[in-house]
Amino acid sequence: MQNVGRIETLIAKMTLAEKLGQLTMTAASHAVTGPAVAGDSLDAIKAGTIGNVLNLIGAGHVHELQRLAVQRSRLGIPVLFALDITHGYRTLFPVSLAAAALFDPLVWERTMRETAREAAADGIAMTFAPMLDVARDPRWGRIVEGPGEDPWVGARMAEAMTRGLQSVELAAADALAAVAKHYGAYAAVTAGREYASVDISERTVLEVHLPPFAAAVAAGVSAIMPAFVDLAGIPMTANAKLLGGWLRERLGFGGVVVSDYNAIAELIEHGVAADLAEAAALALGAGVDIDMMSGAYRRGLPIALERGLVRVQQIDEAVRRVLTLKERLGLFDDPFRRGTRPESASAIRERRELARAVAARAIVMLSNERDTLPLASGLNRIAVIGPLADASAEMRGPWWAAAAPEGHVTVLEGLRAALTGAQILHAEGVAIEGDDASAIPGAVELCSTADAIVLCVGEAATMSGEAASRAHLDLPGRQRELCEAVLERAARRRVPVVAVLFSGRPLAVPWLIERAGAVLAAWFLGSEAGNAIADVLTGHTSPSGRTPVTWPRAVGQIPIFYAQRPSGRPSDPANRYSSGYRDESSAPLFAFGHGLTYGRFRYANPRVAPQSVTLRDTIEVSVDLTNEGARVAEETVFLFAHDKLASLARPCLELKGVAKISLGPGESGSVSLRLAAADLRFLGADLEPRFEPGEVELLVGPCAERERLVGCVVRLAP
Ligand code: NOJ
Repeated sequence: MQNVGRIETLIAKMTLAEKLGQLTMTAASHAVTGPAVAGDSLDAIKAGTIGNVLNLIGAGHVHELQRLAVQRSRLGIPVLFALDITHGYRTLFPVSLAAAALFDPLVWERTMRETAREAAADGIAMTFAPMLDVARDPRWGRIVEGPGEDPWVGARMAEAMTRGLQSVELAAADALAAVAKHYGAYAAVTAGREYASVDISERTVLEVHLPPFAAAVAAGVSAIMPAFVDLAGIPMTANAKLLGGWLRERLGFGGVVVSDYNAIAELIEHGVAADLAEAAALALGAGVDIDMMSGAYRRGLPIALERGLVRVQQIDEAVRRVLTLKERLGLFDDPFRRGTRPESASAIRERRELARAVAARAIVMLSNERDTLPLASGLNRIAVIGPLADASAEMRGPWWAAAAPEGHVTVLEGLRAALTGAQILHAEGVAIEGDDASAIPGAVELCSTADAIVLCVGEAATMSGEAASRAHLDLPGRQRELCEAVLERAARRRVPVVAVLFSGRPLAVPWLIERAGAVLAAWFLGSEAGNAIADVLTGHTSPSGRTPVTWPRAVGQIPIFYAQRPSGRPSDPANRYSSGYRDESSAPLFAFGHGLTYGRFRYANPRVAPQSVTLRDTIEVSVDLTNEGARVAEETVFLFAHDKLASLARPCLELKGVAKISLGPGESGSVSLRLAAADLRFLGADLEPRFEPGEVELLVGPCAERERLVGCVVRLAP
């Protein structure tokens, strides 16, 4: 229950220093003698000048600090403890980009529910998730943390993840406050270069980058974090138009805005503030409530007040929002409610089982020539080669919260457990990065007696994530040499080679796709990675993941995404003066949504009802499917819209819905997708939503490849 009286009474009693404490978030760690706060003594907690703490792990430590705050500080205001918990706390689920490949909101919600339970049981009350940056440039390392390239997927993930983290009651002992980040358009950094400037059209900001944040707000997200970057010259941390105007006024967001790490002080580096006082005034004026790590509010706001750059009422409003969040989290009523009850062994075991099932479904089978997969049963010797074959810590991906480096199942371990009758040989061959190729011949030799080869190659987990942009999207180090040597030996012996590709982004490796019998995109799948991969390799599970990002064949094609607007000179190989490249095809290596299964699905009889709709109607699109393959499999069905003739050029395809169907061999079924006619509105020339009369194509199929979609037409009536 929100206790407005309590908050107002507190604000009335607070000194300026105490108020600024509530607007401050500082990192803590666990020093040898106990919890420590960066650059501060624990006296700051007792003095009430730190109200929020990040990066402290362990219920004991959290409670120790909390006791100082509630028992030793003058006003006894509880501390808010926050951490980046993006795809699991100790038990890791697949990284967000891999989770996106499931296209399954129920799973997104469930995994976040489990994540919240595990973290809250350790005393944490807030997580900096979900990350909702729609990313169309895989050079940008943070693509791994988000929903991929599509705003519709981003919006569905925003809702599901917020629900999962926050549960129905934020005050529950197993709920976390969610922070939607990074608001907005961070992923559009120039040339995919981390922290670079963003300069894109207002239309793209509104159509592509902000919808996931609108969905998070509608789902009741507790907080928003502005991006580090500037948008057309205005840093997001000081962007009054987008924070105050769009977020607070237009969307009615009443929650907390928390800055990114040191971002307020960085307004000086951006060149829009002369000193900390100006930086603090700009951020507060734009609507940023909590200063993470820059000290600008504590040190700069008193000066800004003296200079008349801010008013006390602005500070009070921010304090009110922070205290309201603490109230909603139940921290005033019982600051120790999180972290008092350790989880049962069965809860932890079940979570691991869930992690395995989810990880298996996140794997995208990119190619499978002549049914290389699943591996034939009864193989005697399997060679598991490559630097990622037995790399437990790498399975965690670039954010791992409280997960230890060990204990995450590797491919080697997974295959050994799954194929007890076979001999599993193993060699690294090369390191993930580095220049030493001396062990390649030994690894190749090992392959000369194998019946099948599993090549585990890709990026190190830290090659994606924050501050991990890449200009080259191929295999790092000497891995290509290893692959080519193994592929050559295997081709001579006619032994199947399966490549398992670990990465936080699509890698431009057309040569590998051409030459390996099958390639699995295994992203970073978390604690059960190896078991999940073994489940797919052995045929225990039919792969069903679909790539949530268009897969480039060359870096020069980037930014690459399916929802392109038509060119006045559409691509035509026979016509030089048509859109394209001289030295590369415009087609991606794999379209958005691509992913093979162990089934083979035929689509037929697409239909729409009703055929004519007005703004408030609901449309139902149905299609029949038959699994003509020999195995049971789950198919993902995408619904796209295309407004061929409108007052302005609309994307050739726009995702509007996704459905799943599981069919046995020879079995048929149908799926129906419902769509609000209002979802066919678009932003007109004035950037306001319009429902334009006319025809819209509704297309269904397995991925964003126009030729593979079947469709019908709906008429929008005024
Ligand atoms: C910086 C990152 O940009 C953000 O995503 C994260 O939540 C904060 N650091 C806190 O770790």
